[in-house]
Amino acid sequence: MSPTTAEPALADGAVTVQLRGASRDIALITLNRPRKLNALSTHMEAALLDTLRSSDVTGSRAVIVTGTECAFSAGADTGELRDMTPQAIAAYYRGSGAVYEEFAALPQPTVAAISGYCMGGGLELALAADFRVAAPDAVFALPEIGLGILPGSGGIARLVREVGPARTRDLVLRGRRFDSQEAYAWGLLTEIAEDSEAVTERALTLAAKLTAHTPLALALAKRVVDAAADAPKETALLLEHLAYAALNRTG
Ligand code: COA
Repeated sequence: MSPTTAEPALADGAVTVQLRGASRDIALITLNRPRKLNALSTHMEAALLDTLRSSDVTGSRAVIVTGTECAFSAGADTGELRDMTPQAIAAYYRGSGAVYEEFAALPQPTVAAISGYCMGGGLELALAADFRVAAPDAVFALPEIGLGILPGSGGIARLVREVGPARTRDLVLRGRRFDSQEAYAWGLLTEIAEDSEAVTERALTLAAKLTAHTPLALALAKRVVDAAADAPKETALLLEHLAYAALNRTG
């Protein structure tokens, strides 16, 4: 296990990565700040960014991000957010706040393995994954509206593409909680595990199936699906045709 600790002062605030799977090609990243429900402080985000750039992750064929049993993550660190000026927030997006987009841009397939609270920035991180597997009693919310702000790390942009404006409005404007069953019914979850102990194993099984496919086909398919969600149909078809031609006979 290679620990990445951008916040050495906090014994329980760390991000770790293990290589799992029969060929040790699945990077299992764990957010480990349980005393604060894995709140994503800028230190935690920076540690995650370092981990995403580590050779364990760049050399892997699938990536899982998970938390601890009580929480995937309860979101951005509310203590830090309070005092940030607009200038500091602009700088934040160029620094540790880039982690959500960097995770989304990984070429290999990604899975969020979710137990407990998955709120705010935690849910935004999970939404940046290709697949989500959750415990039956996981608790989801975008509660930012209650703090006088809104999800600002891709939460709205991604949710609206996944579930449409009406459901996104419901979750963002009300900040209400929702459960795994509702998330599954809306297509936000790929699988609901039997219980929280089974979540990581289910995510590993899913990741292992994905690693059976060729990395280049997976990487291009990810890019084309993302682009097709926004592009006019003719452009989406063109991307499909070009990517198909680029891939043919590479497998
Ligand atoms: N940022 C910083 N610290 C957080 C946090 C967050 N987003 N979420 C939880 N914590 C901390 C608490 O302050 C507490 O720390 P303490 O023991 O030092 O006081 C610890 O984690 C446990 O949280 P607690 O609130 O006591 O647990 P709970 O089980 O009663 O409630 C939640 C769990 C998730 C409902 C509640 O912690 C919560 O609402 N958190 C904020 C969620 C949020 O607004 N996220 C979006 C931020 S933009």
